[in-house]
Amino acid sequence: MIDQQTIGRILDAADIVDVVGDFVTLKKRGVNYIGSCPFHNEKTPSFTVSPSKGICKCFGCGAGGNAINFIMELENMSYPEALKYLAHKYNIPIEERELSDDEKKEKSKLESLRIITEFAGKYFSNTLLNSEEGSAIGLSYFKERQINRATIDKFQLGYCPNSGSAFTDYAKKNGYKEELLIELGLSKKGQYSTFDFFKGRVIFPIHNLSGHVIAFGGRTLKTNKDTAKYFNSPESPLYHKSDVLYGIYQAKRSITSADKCYLVEGYTDVTSLHQAGIENVVASSGTALTVGQIRLIKRFTHNITILYDGDAAGIKAALKGIDLVLEQAMNVKVVLLPEGEDPDSFSKSQSHTDLMDYINSQEKDFIHFKSELLLKEAQNDPVKRAEATRSIVNSISKVPDTFLRTEYVRTTSIIMKVKEDILNNELRKKIHKIIERENKQQFNLPPTEVVTSSQKTPTYSEYGKDYFETIEAALLKYLIKYGSNNLEIENDIHEFETKTVAQYIFDELMIDEINFMNEIYADIFLIAFEQHRKTGKIEQDFFIKHSDPHISKMASDIIASKHEISELFSKQGVTVEKEDRKLSELIPNNIIIYKSRSLNKLSKEYEQKIKTLSEETDLDQIMEIQKKMILVKSALQKMSGLIHRVIP
Ligand code: CTP
Ligand code: MN
Repeated sequence: MIDQQTIGRILDAADIVDVVGDFVTLKKRGVNYIGSCPFHNEKTPSFTVSPSKGICKCFGCGAGGNAINFIMELENMSYPEALKYLAHKYNIPIEERELSDDEKKEKSKLESLRIITEFAGKYFSNTLLNSEEGSAIGLSYFKERQINRATIDKFQLGYCPNSGSAFTDYAKKNGYKEELLIELGLSKKGQYSTFDFFKGRVIFPIHNLSGHVIAFGGRTLKTNKDTAKYFNSPESPLYHKSDVLYGIYQAKRSITSADKCYLVEGYTDVTSLHQAGIENVVASSGTALTVGQIRLIKRFTHNITILYDGDAAGIKAALKGIDLVLEQAMNVKVVLLPEGEDPDSFSKSQSHTDLMDYINSQEKDFIHFKSELLLKEAQNDPVKRAEATRSIVNSISKVPDTFLRTEYVRTTSIIMKVKEDILNNELRKKIHKIIERENKQQFNLPPTEVVTSSQKTPTYSEYGKDYFETIEAALLKYLIKYGSNNLEIENDIHEFETKTVAQYIFDELMIDEINFMNEIYADIFLIAFEQHRKTGKIEQDFFIKHSDPHISKMASDIIASKHEISELFSKQGVTVEKEDRKLSELIPNNIIIYKSRSLNKLSKEYEQKIKTLSEETDLDQIMEIQKKMILVKSALQKMSGLIHRVIP
């Protein structure tokens, strides 16, 4: 492990213009430098480097951070790798710190699992390419499926011998423990011996974002139905299925530059589309799509196109996927392939141009997709037509953005020939229902203004994680950027007092037990609090140069961001010109909104806890929580007056 002092030296030496300049041609523009973003294709350069802040940022695709974040992202390096890269560039000798025994144990198990998985990947690939059985059986299978050598190499495809325990024996001979092989699902304990889980199968290694193999899928070569077509590695400390997408490593650059990601079902769909020249594609690998997987895509683009087989199962999966993607505030389109074709088979029957033409002409946004599909089924049956409309409105209700929902309602109104008012009514009901479901446990609490306000359409998103996170980022931005600025604040007894931004934010948020929802934001907040407590001020540089790359990256993003806060507030009906002039208005407003939402959430959590505890009749604890509950409610009461000032 590299010690803190060395990390500090590296960061001090790493001149951001110099580091970025190795990869991007930079031109001076005012106090900053500007060049073409290395993370996505762009016509006009928008990649900005700020030597004074020590950060870079692309205003097109959002990439950037400090020098380490930049190298990590561009070169797909881990944090220590990036540090070593920079240390080497600036001739800084690296002092590595000794690990504690516990650290060693934890690290060494994970490390062993990584090494074994990597070893297995190499073994399978080597067996495919260099053994007699591998080429006779594995390679000829791939050949028959028209998977060429370049694709085999790109995806590190492999083959596991059919002989029973060839791999397990070889791994054990190399000193790898059987229990770890079993934990990784590579070997399986039979009645008499331990055998290879993937024996006789061709292998699709699954890579994580930085290109390391973390799991495998193995396809049988048999055509009979008694064995599962694919075997997959089980969950392990390396492999959390719900957060992994097959092909993400090979696709990520192309997803960013195309600003779009195709989502398919299977391993071969991914490999074949690559071979057909479409590289921005990932697969959920047979399992139902998860929120974690969608969030993974969201790091690279907000646009997902679902590319599924046009049979009943494909359509059903697409419909489910749509709502999930919409809930994550992303855009979703659907392309259905001719029935009986999956992307693998279809791409092979078409030239690249025909394939692209098909996809581009068949691609439909979710409203057109759903309406065409459902109207075809409904024909002239009025009941079914109404159901179709309701189903579309249901999808729209998942969209967190108010403006976007309005646009979708407009489109739906035209397509379904139903008045916008009627759609909006239905939409409002749906959103109320969502909020109600969330508030169900709530007793005695003043109803939230979002539910009762008659002028304002309730926005479900205001309660979602995204909404909290937007305000949290805004608050951190004020804290880090303007922490020492003075604010004129009206206190409880309507007197004005002067406080620094930092003091005000800490005072407001530390009294009530409010924790930021986003873990990294919460970390940054606490670090800022500590720094402020020790030094009496907040320094931007401290965060940009922080040794945890998540924090330095997030801090750079927050500092470089221009728009979010003003957008948030123009949505609330307040227009903002320049944020540093409006701090005295913006910060208290943000605090009021944030606190009231958080307190609401907190009180719901307490109620839930009380309910659980009353089942166990733990009176002491219940009293304890009820006390807290009273405090939260009185704080909420106080807020309810204020919030009407903020949200008219
Ligand atoms: N799958 C699985 N286990 C199975 C069947 C399928 O894990 N028994 C997963 C695999 O990731 C597979 C995906 O579901 O790629 C889609 O399944 P399917 O369409 O049946 O397979 P294809 O990908 O089309 O595979 P192939 O082209 O080799 O038939
Ligand atoms: Mn297939």
